[in-house]
Amino acid sequence: MPVTITFEPSGVTGVVATGTYLIDAAKRLGAPVGAGCMRGKGACASCVVQVAAGADLLSPPGTIEESFLTPEQLQQSYRLACHAKLEGDGDVVLRVVRRSAADQENPHVYRDLTKDFNNLPLQKKISTLLQLEAITVSEAMNAAIDKPLAFGAKTFDKWTNRARSSARSKENQKK
Ligand code: FES
Repeated sequence: MPVTITFEPSGVTGVVATGTYLIDAAKRLGAPVGAGCMRGKGACASCVVQVAAGADLLSPPGTIEESFLTPEQLQQSYRLACHAKLEGDGDVVLRVVRRSAADQENPHVYRDLTKDFNNLPLQKKISTLLQLEAITVSEAMNAAIDKPLAFGAKTFDKWTNRARSSARSKENQKK
């Protein structure tokens, strides 16, 4: 059965089949969810979404979601897209939570990644390092996108201030 799913704030929308995990729907439709996660097994929280509509169409939160998200977040319909599955047909609207915002609300997520690092077998250590590297790359990309915008805004402010002060000094010279 079909489900119409919309990702906010991008507005990406489309129809997917019942039984689809939210992260698979996001990948299929091109919505930016879970970009920093290489495994999609509830290990990074890069796929946190808040369900704005249609929460009753999703599978109930499992133990992994309950360990990642606080009871308050679960009450506010926060979900891990890699663990929440569409189970009923209808309309679902999801608000994509930027990972940094999710971290601020739930800082234990990243502490958990490093907590038992020393006790991990070598293969697990390598996969964890790869995961952390992917997160770093994604943060660097976000910073690279934000910097030119901030620079542009500062430059525009300087120009408008100069133009104003120049106009004021011309007015003063006329007087
Ligand atoms: S994709 Fe990493 S926790 Fe869901």
